[in-house]
Amino acid sequence: MTNKIIPLKIAGVGYSLPETVITNDDLTKLYETSDEWIYSRTGIKERRVVSGNQNAVDLGFEAAKKAIERAKIDPNEIDLIIAASSAPPDLYPAIACHIHERLGIEKQIPAFDITAACSGLIYAMSIARAYIGSGMYKKILLVATDNNSRLVDWNDRGTSILFGDGAGAMVVTESEDGIDDIIAIDIKADGNYGHLIELAFDGHNCPLVEQNEVRPVGIKMNGRGVYTFVAKILPHYVEELLENAGMKAEDIDYLIPHQANIRIIQAVQERLGYSDDKVVTNIKYYGNTSAASIPIALAESVEKGNVKLGSTAILCGFGAGMTWGGAIVRLRDGIC
Ligand code: UT7
Repeated sequence: MTNKIIPLKIAGVGYSLPETVITNDDLTKLYETSDEWIYSRTGIKERRVVSGNQNAVDLGFEAAKKAIERAKIDPNEIDLIIAASSAPPDLYPAIACHIHERLGIEKQIPAFDITAACSGLIYAMSIARAYIGSGMYKKILLVATDNNSRLVDWNDRGTSILFGDGAGAMVVTESEDGIDDIIAIDIKADGNYGHLIELAFDGHNCPLVEQNEVRPVGIKMNGRGVYTFVAKILPHYVEELLENAGMKAEDIDYLIPHQANIRIIQAVQERLGYSDDKVVTNIKYYGNTSAASIPIALAESVEKGNVKLGSTAILCGFGAGMTWGGAIVRLRDGIC
């Protein structure tokens, strides 16, 4: 980053969750498991799932409306929509295009989706950082929404216990007071570990040629492999993010991490030396909502008063790819 970039303001955040709660006890109707097994290994007690025709667009739209309202802008002022999802209802139209339509935006603006799994919000923020920083766009809507419950294999007890549905949104704008709300941001990927979490999207070859092997639909995860990989890199990565920003752990008020496994969150917490009141966790109630997890944790903790505004926070996440990323942000009054 150079000093010449235009500063960015986080203007509003919002989230949305489906109403239906599935507890660990409910899952015992599907396979042999127990609340004790799931809770002790993951920190999860329950998760929210869509029912009927509700999907990631509906959830994303609700979250977006709240973020826009809190940013005090008219949807027609938005210059760009980026949606991050790895559990969309359609590959196209993109979720971002659906949201453009649902918000009733009259202007023809760019709208596209990105897939960076659970790191999606940080990736989207990084893209927004570049667009706003260059002066190309002034007001950007970011939506992170995942309907995992439709894509997990509900026969796979090692994976389906983890995931839930939800959406979070963030409006970022050019900062008019010169204060930049993204103090630091970084994103990474290592495709060599792509096999750890996969979601196949196979069709059939043209009937006139040799047929391909069609892989089964459903999230396939090597849970132990993901755990080992992330526990090894994430605490050090977050420390490095701070170091590169010329900051120390004690300079930051809160840690708002991706909610994938309470033990991974605790490993980062320990490395930073943070007390529990500095760390946002809601995994107990929502499980892993993929890209939506960080913005839900952010908006909900502010709404509930667990995170005070006029503060700073480290956001960090990781997911399929493997991808990971982190941001140090300022949380201004009025964003929620
Ligand atoms: O954003 C996506 C990121 N993903 C993650 O963060 C996942 C990180 N990994 C984890 O959270 C953990 O690896 C899991 C919670 C997914 C699994 O815990 P684990 O201690 O790594 O279990 P495991 O997969 O090694 O399985 C241990 C045993 C196996 O039985 P055997 O082979 O030892 O007899 C499994 O069959 O536990 C069994 N098992 C279960 N038992 C009861 C697996 N799932 C369950 C279950 N209930 N739900």
